[in-house]
Amino acid sequence: MLLLLIALFVMGALSTLLAPSQQSSADTGTSQQVTEGKALFTVQCSSCHGLNGEGQTTAVIQGPPLAGVGAASVEFQVGTGRMPMSQQGVAQAPVHPVRFSPEEIAALAAYVATLGPGPAIPSPEEYDTSGVSEEDIARGGELFRTNCSACHNFEGAGGALPGGKYAPSLLQTSNLHIYEAMVTGPQQMPVFNDDVLRPEDKKAIIAYLNDLHSRPNQGGLNLGGLGPVSEGLWAWIIGIGGLIIFAIWIAAKGVKAK
Ligand code: HEC
Ligand code: HEC
Repeated sequence: MLLLLIALFVMGALSTLLAPSQQSSADTGTSQQVTEGKALFTVQCSSCHGLNGEGQTTAVIQGPPLAGVGAASVEFQVGTGRMPMSQQGVAQAPVHPVRFSPEEIAALAAYVATLGPGPAIPSPEEYDTSGVSEEDIARGGELFRTNCSACHNFEGAGGALPGGKYAPSLLQTSNLHIYEAMVTGPQQMPVFNDDVLRPEDKKAIIAYLNDLHSRPNQGGLNLGGLGPVSEGLWAWIIGIGGLIIFAIWIAAKGVKAK
C-alpha cells in the first residue's frame, strides 16, 4: 500500500516536471503596447509590485512578483477592477469599477507578459458558447459540481472561506473572466490547466453558468442553493413534520370517535 502511494507520488511529480509548460504569451502584444504598458505600470502598479514587477514585501507595502503570471492574470485582475488595489492589508482585493480602458488593460497585459511566460488572454472562440449543445451544458454542470461548487456553491452564488476570504458569486462574471479565472487561479482558487480541464470542458462550464443564470426561477422554494444538504434537511423537516401533524390529527379524530 505504502509502495503504491510512493509510486503514485513519483509518477505525479514526474508528470508535472515533464509536462510541457502551458501556452506561453511572450509573443503577444506589439512593442508599442509593451512600451505604453510599462509606462502605465510604473505610475499605477510599481508602488506595490516593484518597478520591474519583481514584487515588494516591506512591512507596509506588499505586492506579489508578476513574472510568469501571464497576460490573462493582468486582464482578469485589472478587467474586474481588483487591481490596482486601493487598500493594503485587506485579505483579498475586492472587485471595483474598472479604472482603465480596454487599450490600457491590453498594454499592461502585454508588458507583464514580457516578464515571463504565462497564460495568454484567451481568444473569443475559446469562451464563445453560442454553439454549445444541451449535452455539453449538462456535462458542464457535472464538471462545475465536481470542480467548483465546493467553494462557489452549487448555484455559483459564492461562499465564505477561512481567514475572512471568500469565493465570489459567479452570477455577473463575463465569459472571458470565467475562463481567465480558471487558467490563472486567483487567490486560493486552483489553476485548472488544460490537463485538468480541457478547453472544451472550460467552455462547457461557462455555458452551464450562463444557462443557470438565464433560466428563470422555476418555481418551488428557493432553498438557499445549498444543494443536497439543505434540500435533504428541508425534506426531513417537512416530511417528519408532516408525519407528526398527521399523527396528531389521527389521535384527535380517535379521541372524538370514542
Ligand atoms: C496597493 C498595492 C497594489 C497596487 C497599486 C497594485 N497591486 Fe496588484 N496586487 C497587490 C496584492 C496585495 C496582490 C495579491 C492579492 C490578491 O490577489 O488579491 C496583487 C495581485 C496582482 C495580480 C495577481 C498576481 C498573481 O499571482 O496571479 C496581478 C496580475 C496584479 N496584481 C496586477 C496589478 C497591476 C497591473 C496593477 C496596476 C494597474 C496593480 N496590480 C496594482 C497589490 C497591488
Ligand atoms: C478552493 C476554492 C475554489 C475553487 C475550487 C474554485 N474557485 Fe473560483 N474563486 C475562488 C476564490 C477565492 C476567488 C476570488 C479570487 C480573488 O478575489 O482574487 C475565485 C474567483 C473566481 C472567479 C472570478 C469571479 C469574479 O467575480 O470576478 C471565477 C469566474 C471563478 N472563480 C470560477 C471558478 C470555476 C469555474 C471553478 C471550477 C472550475 C472555480 N472557480 C473553482 C475559489 C475557488
